[in-house]
Amino acid sequence: MGIPSTHASPRYHFLLASLLLTLLQTEVICFQYKVGELDAWGIPTSENPQVYAKWSKYHTFKIGDSLLFLYPPSQDSVIQVSKQSYNSCNLKDPILYMGNGNSLFNITSEGEFFFTSGKPGHCEKGQKLYILVGNGTATAFSPSYGPSALPDTAPSYPTVFGTIPAPPSSSPSLSFSAFMAAGIGFLVCALLGGTI
Ligand SMILES: *[C@@H]1O[C@H](CO)[C@@H](O)[C@H](O)[C@H]1NC(C)=O
Ligand SMILES: *[C@@H]1O[C@H](CO)[C@@H](O)[C@H](O)[C@H]1NC(C)=O
Repeated sequence: MGIPSTHASPRYHFLLASLLLTLLQTEVICFQYKVGELDAWGIPTSENPQVYAKWSKYHTFKIGDSLLFLYPPSQDSVIQVSKQSYNSCNLKDPILYMGNGNSLFNITSEGEFFFTSGKPGHCEKGQKLYILVGNGTATAFSPSYGPSALPDTAPSYPTVFGTIPAPPSSSPSLSFSAFMAAGIGFLVCALLGGTI
């Protein structure tokens, strides 16, 4: 037989379908977070100096979500910086500068993201935000569930083409489907974000 038998296995298709469903359920639901749940991105008040650290700790971010920073553009800005710059409050050469007062940062990849204010002195006063994306919900599709990961003892069907209706188009690979699902999720999120 030239065709890998695992592709014809109903178990494989069930796995694919349920994984896709899970992905769609988890990935399409995306959020636009107003940073700090505050009306303005700014220097933390003396009552709540750890506002941004606390806020990011109690939220789980994933690809497709976005962070909304609201602030008076004449008084503040947002910059995405490296970890080193975050720690040392170095405002030079930011990764991304946003200064229109209504800044939306779109999460498009996993990893660590560091933000602070572009205004000198604000970082030192605690206006800085760190978020971690991934190793939480988003890692669901990073392990590779190739056909090789399926049990070898799948029930064998003698007539591969006879009894099992072929799907309309054969799915190229699971990782591609997962990628598509994540892409669709992000697209939906982007569209939703754009209408707000
Ligand atoms: C996720 O975990 C792996 C190992 O468990 C680690 O190598 C990787 O750096 C982590 N990713 C993030 C964004 O922390
Ligand atoms: C994020 O996406 C929105 C539209 O969905 C766009 O207006 C905005 O400029 C994007 N932000 C960045 C930093 O690219």
